[in-house]
Amino acid sequence: MSAVVPPIPQGNAQKGDAVHPGSPVTVNRYTPMKRLNHWITAASLILLALSGLALFTPSLFFLTGLFGGGQNTRAFHPWIGVVLFLSFFIFFFQLWKANLPERTDWIWLRKIKDVVGSHEENLPELGKYNAGQKFIFWSMTALILVLIVSGVMIWEQYFTQYTSIPVRRIAVLAHSIAAVLIICVFILHVYAAIWTRGTLRAMTRGTVTGGWAWRHHRKWLRELAARRKVGPAE
Ligand code: HEM
Repeated sequence: MSAVVPPIPQGNAQKGDAVHPGSPVTVNRYTPMKRLNHWITAASLILLALSGLALFTPSLFFLTGLFGGGQNTRAFHPWIGVVLFLSFFIFFFQLWKANLPERTDWIWLRKIKDVVGSHEENLPELGKYNAGQKFIFWSMTALILVLIVSGVMIWEQYFTQYTSIPVRRIAVLAHSIAAVLIICVFILHVYAAIWTRGTLRAMTRGTVTGGWAWRHHRKWLRELAARRKVGPAE
C-alpha cells in the first residue's frame, strides 16, 4: 500500500525564501536586492512627499530649504518621481503574484476584529501576505501610476506642448489627490510594519523568526517546509 502524500500548501513562497534551523529558527523573506529596491522606493517617496508638500501650500514652503531653495525643489521633484516610479515597478514585478487576492483574504477581512485584537488563532492560515498588505500593495501601485501620468502631464519643462491648460488643471487635481492618498497609505504601511512586532527586520536583515512566520503567515512557512526549502543552520 502506498503512503498518501499530503498536498503542498500554496503559500506564495518566492525564490530565495527558505527556513534555517537554529535557536530561534529564522526564515529568509527578502533578498538583499529586494531590500535595496524597497529602501530606494521608500527614500524616494519620503523625498517626494517633502518636496511636493513644499510646492503644495505656502505654509509648507519652508521645506524647500531641504532641497536648496524653491527653484531646485521644483527641478528635483519630478526627477525623484521618475526614480520612485522605476524603483517601485522593479519591486512590483517581483511581488505581484504573491499579492493576488485569495479566498482567505475575504475571511481575514471579515475577521478584522481578531486581527486588531491579536487573536490570530481565529484566523485562517495565511500565505506570504495578508489582505491588509495586499491592499497597501495594490493601492500604492494604482496611486503611483496616477502620480506618474498626471505628473508628466504637468511637467512644464518638457511636456507643456502636449497638453492644454484645462487638461493640466485636471491633472494637477488628480496629482494632489493621489499624493494625499499615498501619504495616508504610507503612514498605514509604516504603522503596520512597526505595530506587528518582528516585521521590521524582514526589511532590514531580510529574515523573520520561525515564530513570527508561524503566527502570521503559517501557510507560507508550511509551503517552505513541504518543499524542503531549508538552508544551513543560523
Ligand atoms: C520608512 C518607510 C518604510 C518602512 C519602515 C517600511 C517597512 C516595510 C517592511 C518591514 C516590509 C516587510 C513586510 C512583510 O514582509 O511582512 C515592507 C514591505 C513592503 N513595502 Fe515598505 N516600508 C517603508 C516604505 C515603503 C514605501 C514608501 C513603499 C512604496 C511606495 C513601500 C512598499 C512596500 C511593499 C510593496 C512591500 C511588500 C509588501 C507586499 O508586497 O504586500 N514601503 N515595508
